[in-house]
Amino acid sequence: MVNQSKRDLLKTGGLTVLALSLGGTAVSAVANTAKSNKVSSQDKIPSQRKLGNLTVSSLGLGCQGLGQNMYGVPQPSREQAVRLVRQAFDHGVTFFDTAEAYGPFESERVMGEGIKSFRDQIVLATKFGWDIDQQTGKRTGGLNSHPEHIKQVVDGMLKRLQTDRIDLLYQHRVDPNVPIEEVAGAIQDLMKQGKVLNWGLSEAGEKTIRKAHAIQPLTAVQSEYSLFFRGREKDVIPVCEELGIGFVPWSPLAMGALAGYVDENSRFEADPSKDLRGIIPRFTPEAMQQNVKLIQLVQKWAKRKLCTPAQLSLAWLMAQKAFIAPIPGTSKARHLLDNLGADDVKFTAEELAQFRQELEAIEIVGLRLPEAILNFSEAK
Ligand SMILES: NC(=O)c1ccc[n+]([C@@H]2O[C@H](COP(=O)([O-])OP(=O)(O)OC[C@H]3O[C@@H](n4cnc5c(N)ncnc54)[C@H](OP(=O)(O)O)[C@@H]3O)[C@@H](O)[C@H]2O)c1
Repeated sequence: MVNQSKRDLLKTGGLTVLALSLGGTAVSAVANTAKSNKVSSQDKIPSQRKLGNLTVSSLGLGCQGLGQNMYGVPQPSREQAVRLVRQAFDHGVTFFDTAEAYGPFESERVMGEGIKSFRDQIVLATKFGWDIDQQTGKRTGGLNSHPEHIKQVVDGMLKRLQTDRIDLLYQHRVDPNVPIEEVAGAIQDLMKQGKVLNWGLSEAGEKTIRKAHAIQPLTAVQSEYSLFFRGREKDVIPVCEELGIGFVPWSPLAMGALAGYVDENSRFEADPSKDLRGIIPRFTPEAMQQNVKLIQLVQKWAKRKLCTPAQLSLAWLMAQKAFIAPIPGTSKARHLLDNLGADDVKFTAEELAQFRQELEAIEIVGLRLPEAILNFSEAK
């Protein structure tokens, strides 16, 4: 195990149960890797993907949980969060996903601090679009994509991110009160000033994607996509393929539910500021009596493929299309390494077909988000 190549270690290292059964050798090797700043080139995940004209690591890092409590996981300290960002880069992650709304502001501040020494070697993605007071960080609960507001937000972002440009700027939600043409116009102005290099949309529907892309080509669309929610396979993903736009699945581990620690007996905090899953219909105790079948399927296949459930879930997403780059979120080095190991998990065409057949036999019950939040998504 100690002599195993680091890429194999990444693949198996996060498999806590297996690692423990190996007498802790794998655990300590992973812990050492995570602590050290010196990571040799063979420890990095070499594979890269194209999102439009951008080249990114096949797996990015979702940084929402570095700026606020998420899914029952307390927000890490600034120091811990910054360290995680640097560990991700040390292991080959070159795609970082944040947003003004994460905190608000704190996730961007973490990114700014974390990426300073390797800013030019990564793709930094962030998002505007919620109505957030730029001084106080107070949210009205609504959206705001008015051009003047976008420009003000971007100036704040650049300060927090300690940079002079944003590589990929998404509209977080389509604003029904501001035509997409006006939003695209604001982005074009920001591009002329060199403050924004590429743009994207999040949770947008097919029509908006087409309209926006015709005015200013989109680099990526970000929408929820995981084994738990595959709604975009029939609308947004085919449009991205047709137009040459990258697709970035958010919550690729279904808010942690596919990472191996959730089952039908799991109960989530009722307070959504601590764990959003507590108010999500698909995670109620009743829904989970049915939905656990998916989790069991993932576990069965993870055993077959000698990987962890998280790796199986992420590898499956990457196996769907070459222009898909998931951004699993984590606040922990050991989970980061587990997730990066997905890069080594490959499926044959027969395996994909068989898995798909078993997957489609399972009906997922319950909405992916509470209705009030879902109403902000154009693509439901
Ligand atoms: N565009 C949008 O509207 C939108 C919405 C939501 C999210 N996002 C983006 O997508 C990113 C990822 O989505 P997400 O954070 O909602 O969900 P996710 O990536 O599906 O799951 C994150 C959760 O899984 C846990 N986890 C991750 N890897 C694990 C592992 N190997 N083993 C055990 N637990 C693991 C994390 O806890 P630990 O911290 O304990 O690892 C965290 O609670 C976000 O960070 C954000 O950048 C975008």
